[in-house]
Amino acid sequence: MNPKSYIDSHKQRMLDELFELLRIPSISADPAYNDAVAQCADHIATHMKDLGIQNVNIYPTKGHPIVYGEFLVDANLPTVLVYGHYDVQPADPIELWDNDPFDPVIKTTEIHPDGAIFARGACDDKGQMFMHLKAFEILQAEGGVPCNVKFMIEGEEEVGSSNLGPFLKEHKEMLACDTILISDTGMIANDTPSITTGLRGLSYVEVEVTGPNRDLHSGLYGGAVANPINILTQMVASLHNEKGEITVEGFYDGVEIVSTEERALMAKAPFSQEAFKKSIGISDVWGEEGYSTPERTSIRPTLDVNGIWGGYIGEGAKTVIPSKAYAKISMRLVPGQDPDAITEKFTQHFLNIAPSSVSVKVTPHHGGLPYVTHSSDPAYQSASAAYETTFGKPALPVRSGGSIPIVALFEQILGAKSILMGFGLDSDAIHSPNEHYGVFNYFKGIETIPHFYHNYTKQMK
Ligand code: BES
Ligand code: MN
Ligand code: MN
Repeated sequence: MNPKSYIDSHKQRMLDELFELLRIPSISADPAYNDAVAQCADHIATHMKDLGIQNVNIYPTKGHPIVYGEFLVDANLPTVLVYGHYDVQPADPIELWDNDPFDPVIKTTEIHPDGAIFARGACDDKGQMFMHLKAFEILQAEGGVPCNVKFMIEGEEEVGSSNLGPFLKEHKEMLACDTILISDTGMIANDTPSITTGLRGLSYVEVEVTGPNRDLHSGLYGGAVANPINILTQMVASLHNEKGEITVEGFYDGVEIVSTEERALMAKAPFSQEAFKKSIGISDVWGEEGYSTPERTSIRPTLDVNGIWGGYIGEGAKTVIPSKAYAKISMRLVPGQDPDAITEKFTQHFLNIAPSSVSVKVTPHHGGLPYVTHSSDPAYQSASAAYETTFGKPALPVRSGGSIPIVALFEQILGAKSILMGFGLDSDAIHSPNEHYGVFNYFKGIETIPHFYHNYTKQMK
C-alpha cells in the first residue's frame, strides 16, 4: 500500500471534491439553513455509495440527520467506527471574512506555505471528516480494506449532539466496534504531530438578572435602585479570585489532580509563550496561579462569559436604568467533574451571591462530559506508528481544551475508546472568520489514516 503515490496522482480531484462539500452551507444552529443541512447529508451519502460503502442510510432525527454506512469484510477482524460531523458553525460576522465562507479559495499563509483552504468548515470538520472517505478510497485502491469499517457522520455536533446519544442506544448493535476513529481536533504543528488524549467537558448556562419592572429614567431613579447591569458585572467579576481560581462553591470538588510526572511529560511538548501571545495579539497571558498556559487550557477547568448584554446599545445616548441584564457563561470541565452537578453548583452559587435588590434566573444549556484516554491504548499505538511512517516521528500525546461531548457517551454506551487523530492547527481559526485548513494537513491526514487501519488490524489479530 502506498497512499502517497495514490494521492500524488489524484490530488486535484481530492481537492475539488472537498470544495464541493464546503460549498454547502450546512449551518446546524440556524433553521434558515435546514435545507442546506439536509442537502449536505445527501451529498455525503451519495459520495459514500460511490465509494462502494455498503448499507448507506440517512437516519432522520428530531434535529438534523445522521449519515451511516459500513464496509464489513470479516467478522473475525476488528471494526473501526469513524465519527465526524458535517454541520458547521454560523459564518458571522460575515464582514470579517476575506472571501465568501461558502466559496472556498486556497491562499498561502506564514504557517501554511503550501496553501490553506479558506471556508467555513474547512477544518471543523468537513475537511477532516472528508479525509476519512479519501483514506477509505486509498485502502480500496491499494490492496483492499484490511478490517471492518463503519462511518457515522452527524449534523448536530455544533449544537450539542442532543439526538446522537439516543441514536447510539437505539443502534448499539449496528454501531458495535473495537475503537472509534475521529479527526475533529488538532495537532501541535505541521512538523510536530500529536494525538489528542483528552477533551474537556462543558457546562453552559444563561443568566438573567432582573431589577425594576421596567426600564427607568436614570436621573429620576439613579442612585436609589440597583442597576441589573452593574450587579451582573459585579457578580460575574466575583466568580474568579485574585489567583484566577473559580469561586463557585464546590467547583473543584473531585477534580482529578494530574501527577507531577505527567505534568513534567506534558511540559516536554514544544510551546512558545511568545508565539502564543503574538498569534492572538495579547501582551500578557492570564490564568489560574500555579499552572502553565498549556495546563490552563487542558488539565484545568475554566469559567468564561461568552456574551453579555442589556440596556441601551443603539446609536447615541439614552439615559436609562435597564430592567434586565443577561450573560451566557461556559465552564470547561476536566475529569472528576460532572456537567449536571457543576450546573447545579453554579446555579446555587449565583443565586446565593445575588443581592436582595435583584432577582436572578439561571437557565442551563447543553453540556458534556470530559474524556481521557491513554497512550497505552492499542489504537493509540497504531496511530502513533502511522504518524511515524508519514511524519518521520511519533506523535506526542496532548490533552486538548476543546470539547466533543459525544466521545464520553461513545465510551459509556458503545463501550469503546476513541482515538483522536486531529490534523488541524490552533491557528486555523475554527468558529472564527477566515477559518482555514492547510492543504498539507488535508493530504497528510489522508496519507496517515490508511496506515492506522493496517497497523490496528495487525495489532488486534
Ligand atoms: N471540533 C471541535 C472541538 C475541538 C476543536 C476539540 C479543536 C479539540 C480541538 C467541535 O466541533 C466543537 O467546536 N465543540 C464545541 C462544543 C460543542 C458542544 C458546541 C466546543 O468545544 O466549544
Ligand atoms: Mn468539530
Ligand atoms: Mn466546532
